[in-house]
Amino acid sequence: MSSCFAISLSLLFFINFLSTASALTYLFPACPNTTLFSPNSTYQSNLNTLLSSLSTAAAATNNTDGFAYATAGKSPPDRAYGLFLCRGDVNASTCSDCVANATQVILQKCPNQRVSVIWYDECMLRYSNVSIYSVMELEPAYVMQNTGNITDPTRFKQLLGQATDNVATRASIDESGKKVAVAETNFKSSLKLYTLAQCTPDLTTSDCNTCLRYAITYLPQGRQGGRLVTPSCSVRFELYLFYNASAVVASAPPPSQSPSAPPAPGTRPKGIITDADSLQYELATIKAATDNFSPQNKLGEGGFGEVFQGRLPNGQQIAVKRLSQGSGQGVREFKNEVLLIAKLEHRNLVRLLGFCLEGEEKLLIYEFVPNKSLDYILFDPEKSRQLNWSRRYKIVCGIARGMLYLHEDSRLRIIHRDLKASNILLDGEMNPKISDFGMARIVEVDQTQAKTSKIVGTFGYMSPEYAMHGQFSVKSDVYSFGVLLLELISGKKNSFFYQADEGEDLTSYAWKNWRDGTPLEVLDPIIGGSYSKDEVLRCFHIGLLCVQEDPADRPTMANIVLMLNSYSVSLAPPQQPPFFLWSKMETPMKELELEQSTSRSKPLSNNEMSVTEIYPR
Ligand SMILES: *[C@@H]1O[C@H](CO)[C@@H](O)[C@H](O)[C@H]1NC(C)=O
Ligand SMILES: *[C@@H]1O[C@H](CO)[C@@H](O)[C@H](O)[C@H]1NC(C)=O
Ligand SMILES: *[C@@H]1O[C@H](CO)[C@@H](O)[C@H](O)[C@H]1NC(C)=O
Ligand SMILES: *[C@@H]1O[C@H](CO)[C@@H](O)[C@H](O)[C@H]1NC(C)=O
Ligand SMILES: *[C@@H]1O[C@H](CO)[C@@H](O)[C@H](O)[C@H]1NC(C)=O
Ligand SMILES: *[C@@H]1O[C@H](CO)[C@@H](O)[C@H](O)[C@H]1NC(C)=O
Ligand SMILES: *[C@@H]1O[C@H](CO)[C@@H](O)[C@H](O)[C@H]1NC(C)=O
Ligand SMILES: *[C@@H]1O[C@H](CO)[C@@H](O)[C@H](O)[C@H]1NC(C)=O
Ligand SMILES: *[C@@H]1O[C@H](CO)[C@@H](O)[C@H](O)[C@H]1NC(C)=O
Ligand SMILES: *[C@@H]1O[C@H](CO)[C@@H](O)[C@H](O)[C@H]1NC(C)=O
Repeated sequence: MSSCFAISLSLLFFINFLSTASALTYLFPACPNTTLFSPNSTYQSNLNTLLSSLSTAAAATNNTDGFAYATAGKSPPDRAYGLFLCRGDVNASTCSDCVANATQVILQKCPNQRVSVIWYDECMLRYSNVSIYSVMELEPAYVMQNTGNITDPTRFKQLLGQATDNVATRASIDESGKKVAVAETNFKSSLKLYTLAQCTPDLTTSDCNTCLRYAITYLPQGRQGGRLVTPSCSVRFELYLFYNASAVVASAPPPSQSPSAPPAPGTRPKGIITDADSLQYELATIKAATDNFSPQNKLGEGGFGEVFQGRLPNGQQIAVKRLSQGSGQGVREFKNEVLLIAKLEHRNLVRLLGFCLEGEEKLLIYEFVPNKSLDYILFDPEKSRQLNWSRRYKIVCGIARGMLYLHEDSRLRIIHRDLKASNILLDGEMNPKISDFGMARIVEVDQTQAKTSKIVGTFGYMSPEYAMHGQFSVKSDVYSFGVLLLELISGKKNSFFYQADEGEDLTSYAWKNWRDGTPLEVLDPIIGGSYSKDEVLRCFHIGLLCVQEDPADRPTMANIVLMLNSYSVSLAPPQQPPFFLWSKMETPMKELELEQSTSRSKPLSNNEMSVTEIYPR
């Protein structure tokens, strides 16, 4: 295929929602209209067979799952694949009625389509000319919102965050085999928030979780009801009971106080269809913007590929990361990850604007950040004069807030895995913006496992458990943050020490001065005399807490933000940081893959370690 793939998210407001209690509530079809078959073709007859077997399966008395998958036809390209899923609380007779209706209506709404989906409140039915079993599909995604406003939106948002997190986790873990979960939460007196999450049960726990997190991320904000449906999962919340509570196991309601404000009147969804986000860029556009990836426009080169500066026709400046060929994963997974990462918005994160996929090209398009990266300024004897202490302190606080967002506030719980000075970009006001987050997801390094043999990271910044055992967690990011903090204080690269051949690293050097009561010896002399001693010592102390050997001893990013913001929080004394024998690794550091070594309980020395680049250029 030689065109960039489109991702669009359609926002549906809802018209004509007057349904009677027992009738089905038809929602909408998704007919891509791109791939038609000719009438009376083999595919058509296979499709008819498929739909009729789905209808039969739904009506079978042994169908207790509200789900079935079927195929018709012997071989591609004429083979048809399909499935239906009924909402978790819907009884067998309603499920059967819904599927029977859907098999008819889908042919009317999407005539001659090779691929279609149709949604009802009660069920979803889809078919395709390729196998869809156990394949997570986030497109097309439709958002619906209940136009009623809410009083106390802050509290509502918080409750909704908790409730959706709860149902997503429980549905993925798959208590009943049906991959569905509901929750009831007290919002105000006699007003409850009802939430439901469901995946097709053929998905793995991890795919179900990813799909639901995606759906949650795009749920409408500031509304009293809303939902997002995709072919693989759906999430819905309302201030009224929209499912049969006695037919699905609810969770224990989270404890909740009931303020006295009167309940808002329940409103039903209303509206029209419009197109929203489009993250797609044409290759031609990007080529024009970067002068066909001309060397003059090259900003740099990271482990995942080259980065170019560019300007879109509308004048917007962009940075384009051209991923190394063969870097990882399939089109679907790539798009899914981009959709997730693009949703992250924080002033201390570099914004991902979109992507382009065409032939062998995989491009990520980012906002352009003008003042280069922190290492470029911090480690340059002249340029570093621009970084007086108050600016450095502001940079520390900004990085901490950005990392906190990645770890806790974004709902996705992104572990950066390669936090370092060259991944901190600076805007015109010297505000820090973290870049390259989510790359481990986009290029498919297994993020779902807390242990990996493929290590993405940079020596000197990597925590011992990550470097030696491939164990990563939010605490391995905290370790890297600590190293970065010590670099900002000292103005020295952690690798400087390796080159100096002193058998010491930055963390040990910092620790010794702390222990010996000479912490200000470490401070970058270029800072001169104008700094707050309290701030410097506090940052130093936090930095040392972050680089402690035992991950459990390291603070969380939330603790760190608190410690930076409040002088009344007292800090524990830091333990001596671990010492690494890899100190004399060649620099500049590169992304590394460590082969599983037989002796991993001790720090590795150079010759025990096999170092190869994961993504060859
Ligand atoms: C199934 O659910 C529908 C809608 O809630 C209800 O009208 C019907 O009576 C139920 N049928 C059975 C057999 O429980
Ligand atoms: C697809 O085709 C149907 C029938 O021709 C039309 O009603 C619908 O608007 C089309 N959808 C898109 C997305 O073009
Ligand atoms: C498809 O088959 C039907 C009935 O067999 C026939 O009436 C119709 O003309 C055929 N259509 C095409 C396009 O061949
Ligand atoms: C339900 O019964 C049909 C016909 O007896 C059988 O083909 C099918 O495998 C059964 N399905 C399940 C889930 O047991
Ligand atoms: C499915 O249909 C699309 C669009 O017509 C086509 O590109 C693709 O090759 C088909 N897949 C199979 C397995 O036939
Ligand atoms: C499908 O359901 C709708 C709404 O209940 C109804 O109006 C329509 O007649 C049904 N269509 C078929 C083919 O059963
Ligand atoms: C909801 O709030 C928006 C923005 O505050 C306002 O424009 C809109 O009129 C409100 N809608 C209702 C139904 O109160
Ligand atoms: C709700 O579910 C229960 C348990 O399955 C069932 O007995 C009841 O009839 C359902 N109510 C409706 C309105 O369908
Ligand atoms: C640090 O530099 C900024 C920008 O040059 C300046 O506004 C600020 O006053 C300086 N702070 C100190 C303490 O010198
Ligand atoms: C950072 O940006 C400001 C404003 O655009 C500019 O004046 C300054 O020279 C830049 N600093 C560096 C190191 O590029």
